Amino acid sequence: MTELDSLVEAARSSFAQAQTPADLENAKALYLGKSGRITEMMKGMASLSVEEKKTFGAAVNVAKQGIEAALTARRQALADAELAVQLKAEAFDVTLPGRPLTQGGLHPVSLTLERIEQIFGSMGFEVAQGPEIETDWFNFTALNTPEDHPARSMHDTFYVEGGHLLRTHTSPMQIRHAVQHVKRYKAQLEAGKGMPEIRVIAPGRTYRVDSDATHSPMFHQCEGLWIGENVSFKDLKVVFTDFCRTFFESDDLVLRFRPSFFPFTEPSAEIDIQFQTGPLAGRWLEVAGSGQVHPNVVRNMGLDPEKFIGFAFGMGPDRLTMLRYGVNDLRLFFDGDVRFLSQFQ
Ligand code: FA5
Ligand code: MG
Repeated sequence: MTELDSLVEAARSSFAQAQTPADLENAKALYLGKSGRITEMMKGMASLSVEEKKTFGAAVNVAKQGIEAALTARRQALADAELAVQLKAEAFDVTLPGRPLTQGGLHPVSLTLERIEQIFGSMGFEVAQGPEIETDWFNFTALNTPEDHPARSMHDTFYVEGGHLLRTHTSPMQIRHAVQHVKRYKAQLEAGKGMPEIRVIAPGRTYRVDSDATHSPMFHQCEGLWIGENVSFKDLKVVFTDFCRTFFESDDLVLRFRPSFFPFTEPSAEIDIQFQTGPLAGRWLEVAGSGQVHPNVVRNMGLDPEKFIGFAFGMGPDRLTMLRYGVNDLRLFFDGDVRFLSQFQ
């Protein structure tokens, strides 16, 4: 191997060792720079004869081209490597499976409320909504429960500023709904177009100072009101029994209308359910209060109690949910534990 060959070889290997473009430019200077090896050789040719210049000059040129080719190749290799690193950093793996979209679901009590609306809807009841922050008038006084009435003590609640309170039941909706439509009812009567009917349910949140396995401070009620020409207690029994059989998809339950007292109904009854089989067999659970709407309440609706006669009930959808799924503490529904709630999807 000639001296020039080994010079090219040395340049190639020092270029190969350069890991960055800057290293490579430094290595280049050693061979092709102003005082690099090749440049020095060219300068040294001045002392040679014409003949020697010709052959040696040609050989140096070949070596110079060899070094330049090695330099270009290494520059390209370094640029390629840099691009590869960059591409790799920006790359995403299109073969990876996507992140699954977890599907949410309705709360078990919401499922119950939907079911209640659907069943009563099929019996011709419309659905009304009302405020959770109520006035004393709608929550108590209009419902035949004046300020000094002892029944108020069973409805201890959360009072907010300005004489408002968190409603203790959905019964205020009886008055609100009737008052909202009273002009229409009266117009229908006066026009001789037959006896108007109020047939409505009003589901929503209610509040009391209560907490045990069957009571929660925030709970749900669904009011029902059917007033017309002589809608009787018998109709209440038929409607409510029908509802329960449909709701639980079972004839295997017994309903008990237990005499009770509410200032806004007369007579009044609490409605209890007893299952005949299954984990809750034999146990009675109160699901609603009910009765014939009191004449004073009908009067507060702006209607004539001699003409408008009917029933009302207020049931507990949380209790219905307990019974439907066999849950023994209804506060579990409101603890917000997803492990519990996801069982009902
Ligand atoms: C009432 O609230 C009456 N307004 C019901 C009524 C309406 C009677 C129309 C007559 C005419 P009561 O306090 O019993 O009644 O409650 C009715 C139902 O709500 C109960 O049977 C129960 O199912 C449910 N309930 C009451 N308090 C709670 C509570 N703290 N947590 C869960 N459910 C409750
Ligand atoms: Mg009760």
